[in-house]
Amino acid sequence: MSDIKQQPKIVIAIDGHSSCGKSTFAKRIAARLGYIFIDTGAMYRAVTLYAQEHGAIRSGMIDEEAVVRLLDEIVITFRFNPERGASDIYVNGDLVEGKIRTIEVSNCVSGVSAIPAVRRKLVAMQQEMGRQRGVVMDGRDIGTVVFPDAELKIFMTADPSVRARRRYDELRAKGDEVSLEEIERNVRERDKADSSRAVSPLRQAEDAVVLDNSHMTVDEQMAWFMERFSKIQNS
Ligand code: DC
Repeated sequence: MSDIKQQPKIVIAIDGHSSCGKSTFAKRIAARLGYIFIDTGAMYRAVTLYAQEHGAIRSGMIDEEAVVRLLDEIVITFRFNPERGASDIYVNGDLVEGKIRTIEVSNCVSGVSAIPAVRRKLVAMQQEMGRQRGVVMDGRDIGTVVFPDAELKIFMTADPSVRARRRYDELRAKGDEVSLEEIERNVRERDKADSSRAVSPLRQAEDAVVLDNSHMTVDEQMAWFMERFSKIQNS
């Protein structure tokens, strides 16, 4: 394993349900392999934030035509932040990493990510970022639409009640007063919305391997991953 960094680089696509730890897992893999980690959800969130700040979303109502008109002026870039061990996202040069995870953005991002022109622009950017391989990309449509030719596709899932519990613990640790029932309802609703939307719905690629991490630690997930990764490298 010591010569991983000398081996030909591949694309690793990680798709799956929300709140199952895709980004944590993808970040760990990227650090282990010396690959670039790209959080595509952050890109949909960045477009949503920009639309909110430029009048295309008012009081939670999305004006789709106005969002599409803004697309040409949105330039998204990533810059590695050694403190986080991951890249921060910038829109037109402004750091927005902290602003894209608010509840206002979370509430509108599903609607924005269902707009076909938004998906076309972001998918093209993602394909360009992975053109030279050596990327770990997490999202909903990476193995099916963005990189159908990815050498390793992982479909992550976990029991909805386990995911709700993790999200609940996270929010409570931040001091948010939320109920476990409310979170579990939201997790199930988002699963349904992600899987049933008309454009690029969340679905498992035929050649993806499933990782159900309901009862796995991050270290166990990494061991699972390295086993599959070395099989590909040696094939
Ligand atoms: O991974 P996340 O929860 O930060 O993603 C935010 C939203 O973006 C989520 O509602 C699904 C959507 N998304 C998408 O449609 N396609 C992707 N490749 C990534 C995220």
